[in-house]
Amino acid sequence: MPRKRVAVLISGRGSNMAALIEAAKASDYPAEIALVLSNIADAGGLDTARKAGIQTAIIDHKPFGKDRAAFDRAMHEVLIAHRIELVCLAGFMRLLTPEFVALWKERMLNIHPALLPAFKGLDTHKRALEAGAKVHGATVHFVVPEMDAGPIIMQGAVVVRPDDTEATLGARVLKVEHTIYPASLKLVAEGRVQVVDGRCLIDGKPVPDAGALIPVA
Ligand code: GAR
Repeated sequence: MPRKRVAVLISGRGSNMAALIEAAKASDYPAEIALVLSNIADAGGLDTARKAGIQTAIIDHKPFGKDRAAFDRAMHEVLIAHRIELVCLAGFMRLLTPEFVALWKERMLNIHPALLPAFKGLDTHKRALEAGAKVHGATVHFVVPEMDAGPIIMQGAVVVRPDDTEATLGARVLKVEHTIYPASLKLVAEGRVQVVDGRCLIDGKPVPDAGALIPVA
């Protein structure tokens, strides 16, 4: 099977993007990172991508002002021009229009640094600590118009330690992110994930072997 052409959308340092690039180096990985697209011209991840020999594109959102639809159309055109089949949001800090989301329905993944549906939005590690959560983690899900919602493909959990700070907890969650994002993209690229009634089935089953999918650190 030809490898699926993937675009990774970033706004910052791109450590999840780097994890996807690393995973895609394996000859049996079912996806190739064909494009890294950023809305921020000096996003750190762009350099990493260039050094890895991956095509990059920058679409600055600022000239579009409040016209999110026009910005999203510009992104869509670039994705189509690069014959992209799957999109991975990786720290891409822009809200997307329902029209754009519809064009990439069940072909666009996002990673969120919390166990959704808990702690949508920003500052997830701080809020998990403030809430006294005992378990925290990260979620890879298909993108739907509602922010930080959508069928969950994979989650990874970490135990919250009594002496955790936002930084120490965030670092452990980030390690989990770097595991579950490449693993999720692999499943999707292999066509093994179906959405039924808003939930993901893998190989036609609800998560077949939770132990194998959920790293607890
Ligand atoms: C990651 O922790 C990702 O989960 C988060 O931004 C960080 C980006 O880091 N995404 C969100 O908060 C989206 N709601 P990275 O650029 O090093 O991958």
